[in-house]
Parts: sequence; C-alpha cells; structure tokens
Amino acid sequence: MEQPFNKINQVKGSLSLPGDKSISHRSVIFSSLAEGESVIHNLGNGEDVKSTIGCFSSMGVVFENHQDTLIVKGLGLKNLKKPSSPLNAGNSGTTARLISGVLVNQYFDSEIIGDESLSRRPMQRIISPLTLMGAQIQASFAGTLPVKILGTKKLNAIEYEVPVASAQVKSCVILSGLHLDDETKVIERIPSRDHTERMLGLKVSYESGKKFIRVSNKDYPVANEYYVPGDISTAAFFMPLALLTDNSELLIKNVSLNETRNGVIIILKAMGGNIETENIRQNNNELSGDLLIKTSKLHNIEIPSDIIPNIIDEIPILTIAGILATGKFSIRNAKELRGKESDRISAICYNLKHLGLNVTEFEDGFEFDGDITNPFPVFESFEDHRIAMSFAILSLLLHNGGKVDNFNFVAISNPDFMKQLKTISR
Ligand code: S3P
Repeated sequence: MEQPFNKINQVKGSLSLPGDKSISHRSVIFSSLAEGESVIHNLGNGEDVKSTIGCFSSMGVVFENHQDTLIVKGLGLKNLKKPSSPLNAGNSGTTARLISGVLVNQYFDSEIIGDESLSRRPMQRIISPLTLMGAQIQASFAGTLPVKILGTKKLNAIEYEVPVASAQVKSCVILSGLHLDDETKVIERIPSRDHTERMLGLKVSYESGKKFIRVSNKDYPVANEYYVPGDISTAAFFMPLALLTDNSELLIKNVSLNETRNGVIIILKAMGGNIETENIRQNNNELSGDLLIKTSKLHNIEIPSDIIPNIIDEIPILTIAGILATGKFSIRNAKELRGKESDRISAICYNLKHLGLNVTEFEDGFEFDGDITNPFPVFESFEDHRIAMSFAILSLLLHNGGKVDNFNFVAISNPDFMKQLKTISR
C-alpha cells in the first residue's frame, strides 16, 4: 500500500519519544537474565523490542505491563526454560545475535528463526566467536537463519578482536562471557555503540588505540530499575524535517546522547544545523538530554570514515538532509549498510535515481548531486523501517509531497511515527 505525504509548512511543538531500541533490547535481556523483579521505564514500543520480549517469554520469563513501565521477573543464571517452539526474532538482528550469546550457555537445545529479511542477514559473524568458545551451532549453508544451538555444559572464555565494527557481535560475545568463570576479553579496533558494556558496568581499558572489555560471571546482571532515554535514531528523522522547514522550532525531550550514537547531531551541526542540547542528565550510566532544533540552511560536508559506525542507522536520514543541502553528498566506508534490514546502499540509490538525481553507487557507499526532476515520486521502502521513514520525511519536504510504498514497516522501530508527525506539523 502506498502512503501519501503532503508538504508541511511548519514544524512547531515538542516530542517525547519511546525508549531507545538498543537500550530497550538490553534492558529486556539483562532483566530476563537477572534473578528477581526488574522494572523498565519508557521501553521502546517497536516490533523489534517485542521480538526480544517474545523470545524470553517463551523461555519462562514473566513480563507485566503497568502503565508506562514493564515489570520483568527474571530467572537467574542458566535458569531459562527450554522453549516449546523455535524462538522468533522477527525482523530484529539485535534479538537474533544477542540472544545467541545467551542460548549457547543454556542446558537445552534451541533454534532461532526470523522473517524473510532477517533470514538473509549474516549470522556467521556471531557463530565464529561463539564456536571459538566451544559452542555448537548449525546455520544454513549461507551462514544465515534458521540457526540451531546445542545446549552446552560449559564454554571457555576467549580473547576476541571483533573484525567488523559491530555492537551486535561485541554484545553477543559479552553476553556469552557473562556466564563463564574465567574472564573473556573483547577487543575493538573501531568503536561501536557501547550500551552493553556501559549498562553492565564492565571493566574497559584502552591500549595501542584499541578498546579492551573484560567480562565474566562476576558481572552477571542483578535485578535493576532501567530508565530508557528516548531513541536518538527515531529523533533523527525529525531533525531534517525541523531544520529544513521555514520558521520551525522543535523540542525533542529526553533523547539518548550516548557518545557512540550522537554522530547524527554532530554531522547535522557541521552541515549548518541549529541544534542545541539542554538539560543533560544520566541514568543507568547512559546520557540523555533535550534537543532544540531550529530552521537552518544546510550544506553538504565531507563525512569522516571514523564516524560511520556512530551514524550507521542514521545514514538514510542524513542522505535526505544531503538531498536538500547545497553541494555534493558522498558517503564511503559504509559497506555494513548492505547487511541491514535491506541493502540500504542499493535501496537509497534506487530512490535517489527515481528522483532524477545523478547517482554513483559504490560497494561501500554512494554519492550524488543534481536536481530533482521527478515531480510526483513514489518511493520504495524495501520493507525497511528506516528507508520508509527517511523517504516519508523527504516527501514532507517536497513541493508536491510524495508517496512511500509498504510504509507499514515503520512499526519495526516506531509505530507512533504518524501520530508524532501530526503533533508537530502545521
Ligand atoms: C545495534 C547495532 C548496530 C545497529 C543496529 C542496532 C545494537 O548493528 O545497526 O540497528 O543494538 O547493537 P551492528 O552491530 O550490526 O553494527
């Protein structure tokens, strides 16, 4: 179904967003593993987080909703119950990859399945380190879901340098390491989002430009109260909307400002965006604050390669800002985008060409310039929530608006997108 979006005239008002997806997944996982009752405030309400809840619920963890909080009755070390059917991670790479690190340490055999998109995404990246730890895992020939995990008596701690900048791989190894007496050492050359080590309060050190994270069962989570800040990756969609609409001012309250996630703000400010950060606070070792965004003129800049892991989920919406900014937009060193919910390099390039822009696609990125020549665009979402929302935002900024096909995938991270838009559009 095509969803139409008409040009908006002004953005005004404020938004409080549901909890950050990455922090929400981790709050649910740590609460499920800890023994006893944990409380989670402002948990993300997207389908992906529901997939994580669904997996733990089918392993005996009890979840109760009380107004705006979720109560989790966790089961404690190696106490999860054998699920009666395969664990369904849906569309969520974070669910599939993070729970693998938990499942390899349970006494029962298990299987993880996912939807069509997730079943195309690489799992070998977590199978390799878990196998080094002694886990027995079977995947499809292509190294994808469904994945079968054999219950193990005891794994061994390892020292593992993560070969790609991936918080999911890092977190999977850390989650497995949490079950072991000996210390597992995870080494990162290129930093990725650090919620797992932060929220667990792990020992971290830096040597020769690399990050060393140490974990053992001494760090096993205990029941806790989590306050999840608003999702910066959701907030990111509204930033270009407010910046590029005349006479606009938008306040987004209590947004996650974790330094491994705030690249979208850094880039938009460097492009000329008027974004102020206020009311900075800290909860569960995670920073958050309010963002005040005002109409600005944007120009494209050179995006440094070391910021790519920090903005990996925001590249689609930064591309939209790039279309309406002056100068040429270019993004490189971002091959990881090809393994997301869709091949985001090819999905973005397809939609840019549909607009009539002059696009060059590379294996690790793309660049474009030129003018929009298609007056009535109908964009493809490629069944990817971030592609859907990015081109919805572009449509809202175009003279004649635009349409997005298969827009319903937005619910993967933000089912309230339309409601939020209505609140702030004039
Ligand atoms: C995530 C890590 C990133 C990101 C994903 C969420 C996480 O993936 O793209 O949306 O919560 O750990 P990679 O670990 O594959 O980079």
